[in-house]
This record gives sequence, structure tokens and C-alpha cells, in this order.
Amino acid sequence: MSPQEIARPLATDLTLSTLCSRARAMAEGEAGLYASRRPQSKAMFDNPEPGFYDQVPQYWMRDWPMPFPFAVAGASGSILTDIDGNELVDFCLGDTGAMFGHAPRPIVDALSRSAQRGLTTMLPSGEAAEVGKLLSDRFGPFVFQIATTASDANRFAIRVARAVTGRKKVLVFDGCYHGAVDETLVDFEDGRTVARKNLLGQAVDVTTTTVSIPFNDVAALEAALETHEIAVVLAEPVMTNCGMILPDDGYLQTLRALTRASGTLLHIDETHTISTGLGGYTAVHGLDPDIFVVGKPVGGGVPVAIWGMSRKVAQALSEIRAGMSGIGHSGIGTTLSGSTLQIACLRACLSEVMTAEAYATMSRHADRLEHGFTDAIRAAGLPWHISRVGARLEIVFSAKPVRNAEESRAAAIDDIQHALHIGLLNQGYLVTPFHNMVLVAPTTTDAQIEGLLDGFQTVLTRLVAQEEV
Ligand SMILES: Cc1ncc(COP(=O)(O)O)c(C=O)c1O
Repeated sequence: MSPQEIARPLATDLTLSTLCSRARAMAEGEAGLYASRRPQSKAMFDNPEPGFYDQVPQYWMRDWPMPFPFAVAGASGSILTDIDGNELVDFCLGDTGAMFGHAPRPIVDALSRSAQRGLTTMLPSGEAAEVGKLLSDRFGPFVFQIATTASDANRFAIRVARAVTGRKKVLVFDGCYHGAVDETLVDFEDGRTVARKNLLGQAVDVTTTTVSIPFNDVAALEAALETHEIAVVLAEPVMTNCGMILPDDGYLQTLRALTRASGTLLHIDETHTISTGLGGYTAVHGLDPDIFVVGKPVGGGVPVAIWGMSRKVAQALSEIRAGMSGIGHSGIGTTLSGSTLQIACLRACLSEVMTAEAYATMSRHADRLEHGFTDAIRAAGLPWHISRVGARLEIVFSAKPVRNAEESRAAAIDDIQHALHIGLLNQGYLVTPFHNMVLVAPTTTDAQIEGLLDGFQTVLTRLVAQEEV
């Protein structure tokens, strides 16, 4: 499928450029409405007083496609309230950090109990053995370590992969995101690996550490692995950060077989695909990686990530460590990781929040959304489809599933995406600003699902109506 085939033509008699100009006009009107409902947020973000750079704790918080971000007064279950008193049903869920709803009660209780016992000591808490077992029971027979973010977990696991294989390079797939990890910030352009645009202060040439190839391309994978330079392939089983790209039938099995045959480790990052079901894509689809990572929601919204190694990798690590002289900095670990607080939250999340019942509710809601979105798209005559991994769905502006980042980029239509985002927001529904990701929590209700579907239909009707509405 060529990129041109993907986004066009429309089944309605509107041209893509008419649709985009309508989307732009709609987004402009909606932006005015958005701003008029949020005087306090506006004042906060217009404030010239010194404080946060750009008035936000992380400057990319300005990248949301609204005139200015809104400031959150509270978040509970699936509802966000802003400082101007507007309520939103949250289908963005902190881009996965709050996948199981905001501030689940067991997590709040665990935080409060931890606060009474001391939050961090640089020693393992008495719950560590139980939590280690919970992790193996849930995710598989890995040997685990704790980090504070998925970025860190990936970074540490890459170090181990290099150490135990004695190889330097990491292979990632074009369009990937695995956090703020130097070795992954590359793209595939004109048949070669290039540093991602806009990297700040980059000192190491990432094309010397990393190879990027298109997803679902077996020949490119074989060629890269044949060099025997690749220590590890770092992959999401379904790519979720460049639209949503599903693996071809058998692709992940081929990936496993080829990595094993070439002595390359397979590192599966489940930070987003944990939406698949209990144990993530790995458990649900029987993958057998050497390294397994989950961040974001694994602590119920508290900063914690886990990285697991197969017993073989852990054994190899132990042998290397046994040959080292004395203690010292290995480049792995941070002071507050593995704290009393994180272990308590992991325990609460694994045993009371991230449960089979929670996934069953999420899956039921996601089924309804998948059908409802698809019906609305068909009724509007648009050549789009829904891509899904468990509780996570995306509205993709192409008739057929995209198979790699190039196709996914070709299918993106920013004007329509922005109009959808702000059009839904002004009706009280927050979806992710980047590639229309919709995530369902166990706290989402039937009424909220139906409301989002109605809102979606309203936006589509406005976009494709014969007369502008
Ligand atoms: C697949 C994947 N891995 C890792 C990360 C990094 O997570 P964090 O920003 O919490 O370190 C992300 C962030 O979006 C991600 O999508």
C-alpha cells in the first residue's frame, strides 16, 4: 500500500482539502469556546512572573493543541476537573499513567500507610519478597528490578543487554518511543538510520549506537541481525507511539526466532501495551522475551517501573558482576527507586487494581467503542478505521491498517486530529492530543462510553455535512 493510497480518497463527495479547511475552521471556533470557559487557566499560563519555564513544570505540556493548557484541580476515577470548574471525562488517562483510573483507593491507602512508615530508606522494605512473587506470577518467570520511570527501566535494561552480549548496538523500529533514552531517539529515513530531529544537546552520535528499521519488515530485520552487532532489539509488541501499528501475523514469532538465532536479546517494552490484558501482550500472546519492561500504570499512577530479565540473562549478569572489583557505580539504579513507597504501591496495584476484573470491564467498554466508532465512521462515509490493543484504541485516518511508521505518518491528518480533539473536549471528553488515542479505565461507565460516541458522531457530522453546521 503506498502512502498516497492510505489517506485518500474520501467516500463522501468532499475532497480532503475541503475536509481539512472545515476542520481548521471548526478547531478555530472551538478554541475560542475553550478559552472563554477557562479564564483562570488562561491567567495562570499568561502570567509573566518568574517561576516555571513557560509557566509549566515540563515544557512539552505546552504542546497540547489547545490555545493554552488547562490546570487540573482534581482527578478521580475517570473524571478530571479544572481550576475553572469544567469537568471532563478522561479517555487520555495521563497517556497511560492513570490507565486504571485516577487515584484508585488501594493506591491512596498504600500511600497513606507508607507515609506513616517512612517513604524511602535505601533498603528493601519487608514487602519486597511478596511483591517479587506478585511480579513473577503476573508477568512471567523474570528476575525483576525497580526503576522510577519506564525511560530509566529501558535505559538500565539496555546496559545489561550490552554487558551480557558484549555487543554495542540497539535495534529499534522506525516511529518508536521508549522514553528519554538516547539510544532510541532515531528515525529511519531514505533507507538509513538518522538522529531524530530536534534532539537537544545531543553529544553522542546516535547512529553509531542504534539501528532503526521499519516494523513488519522481515528482510530488514534479517539483514540487521546478520551483522551480529546488535545486542538487543527493543520493541513494543504493538507500536503505539506513531499511530498504532499492529504486528503482521507471525511477525513477533519471527522476531523471537531470528533474535535467538543471532544471539541478540529481545526486550519487550509493555509500558503502553499493558492495555492488552492481564500480564500485558507478553502473557496474553505467549511471547518469550529476554527482557520485559512496564512503567507508567504499574504503580497505579505513582512513579515506578519494573524491568525483568530472563533467568539466563540474570545469571550472565551475576557472572559479570562477580568478576568486577569492589563496589561502584554501574550506571544502573537511582536512589529513590525500589523505595518503601514504590513497593507498597506495586503491591496494591498488582493485587487490587490491575486485576482480571478490571481488564474485563475495560475490554467490554473497548468493544463497545470499537463498534460505535466504526459505525459512526461508516455512516459519515469516511475511509478511516479503528486500531486497537485491548483497552487502547486509535482512530486512524486510513481505510486499511498501517504496517509501519511511513504508512502511519502518511495517514496522519493534523487538521482533522486537532478538530476532533478540541471538538470532543468542548463536549466534555478528553482524548489524547497525539494521534487520537482513546484509553478506557475500569472506572469508565457505560454512560461515559455512550457520551463519547455521541460526541464523536457530532464532530463527524459537522465535518462531512453538505452544509456547514
Ligand atoms: C512504550 C513506552 N515506553 C517508555 C515510555 C517512557 O515512559 P516515561 O516517560 O514514564 O519514562 C513511554 C512514554 O510514553 C512509552 O510510550
